[in-house]
Amino acid sequence: MTTTPQRAERVENASVTNRTYLPGFGNQHVTEAVAGALPEGRNSPQQAPLGLYAEQLSGTAFTAPRAENRRTWVYRIRPSAAHTPFRRISRRSLLASPVVNDCPEPNRLRWDPLPFPEGEVDFVAGLFTYGGTGDVRAQEGVAIHLYAATSSMTDSYFVDADGELLIVPQEGGLELRTELGVLDVAPQEIAVVPRGIRFQVRLRDARARGYVLENHGRMFTLPELGPIGSNGLANHRDFLTPVAAFEERDEPARVVQKYLGGLWAADYDHSPLDVVGWHGNYAPYKYDLRNFMVIGTVSFDHPDPSIYTVLTSPSGHAGTANADFVIFPPRWLVGEDTFRPPWYHRNVMSEFMGLVHGVYDAKAEGFVPGGASLHNCFTSHGADATTYERASTVELSPQKVDNTLAFMFETRLPVVVSEQAMAAAHRQHDYDAVWQGIGKRFTAPGGFASPAGVSLKNVPDHWD
Ligand code: FE2
Repeated sequence: MTTTPQRAERVENASVTNRTYLPGFGNQHVTEAVAGALPEGRNSPQQAPLGLYAEQLSGTAFTAPRAENRRTWVYRIRPSAAHTPFRRISRRSLLASPVVNDCPEPNRLRWDPLPFPEGEVDFVAGLFTYGGTGDVRAQEGVAIHLYAATSSMTDSYFVDADGELLIVPQEGGLELRTELGVLDVAPQEIAVVPRGIRFQVRLRDARARGYVLENHGRMFTLPELGPIGSNGLANHRDFLTPVAAFEERDEPARVVQKYLGGLWAADYDHSPLDVVGWHGNYAPYKYDLRNFMVIGTVSFDHPDPSIYTVLTSPSGHAGTANADFVIFPPRWLVGEDTFRPPWYHRNVMSEFMGLVHGVYDAKAEGFVPGGASLHNCFTSHGADATTYERASTVELSPQKVDNTLAFMFETRLPVVVSEQAMAAAHRQHDYDAVWQGIGKRFTAPGGFASPAGVSLKNVPDHWD
């Protein structure tokens, strides 16, 4: 769908509270911050209007199928090429896939909230990598980070060549100033910044914390709906893209680029957010998770959590995602004769979970907002003892799960946890204890007779 040109003011004058957005997922948008910034009838005239430079930003191969093809034409004050050579800088606690860990372990893992840093730390410096899959060099897999920031970026900008960034704020609002316009995001919303798009993160509050999925694979799209039909889950129109907005700022600026796992910096003598108009379908967007239409049972049993998928990054294997973003929002539970929390399970897919606010219905305690858990490939998990006892004996009636928002980054590859996340002071070393105290309830003894003389102490330890 093509919309009529949308106009916005310069970034400096843009309203924080009444921001204008362009609705629709993956739409072809047309927007200009100054009337006449876009050429008519062609993309690259001999001279672009208003003395601007034309530049194409391709998010997919030129020849990608039409349904997947993403590109945007930008009309900017200076071409993005006008910068000094990149130089390597410290990446601090921001790591990359393949994540190095000499002894990845199969244990279930959980962390307390990522602590806020002392002093002034911005979004990029505040990123802390928990783990990853795949390899940035092969453009597959993901990296999983949390951020804890106490200051805005002012003269620096960030761009990730390794992956698109799915940002899930947990505490504090963010103002994402991007090349293509400004997004305001707050907890219970998400933002996606495609790879290669420069942006700056300003804090709307004194501090900010949240989760980031760095997607090295195919860009996020909406899941197929199958028998659900043409509506439901996350609807197209609720995804919001910024209108054009620009900074005309002729002062030194630094662009930090993540490239093949390293961080590099280059200097500009002006703001790189100088796009006055653009058209295309490769752009950042936001989505309010409260608009997600939740589908669940109205009879019995607990459906697979894939019904809660907001966005999916497909792999080359149908139905087996490089990454799924799944939420557990407020909803009614009405299943009859049903154990309503998640059943005990083991999955080939790996599950990294976070909590934006409230209480998650499978864990009575210990999993708190800003914290995280990882149930890697084929690790056993499910309700803790307290939750099982309550959910298996409670008198069932329609129940509203409210004031909560948990989510899951689910990936097809096992997550290699970083050594810094394993060694972190905020890791809970007693997580396994939540499955202690789940008693034997079997009421019809029988079955196989155990061979005489076999006990655990006689099991050989030759694997140690
Ligand atoms: Fe699970």
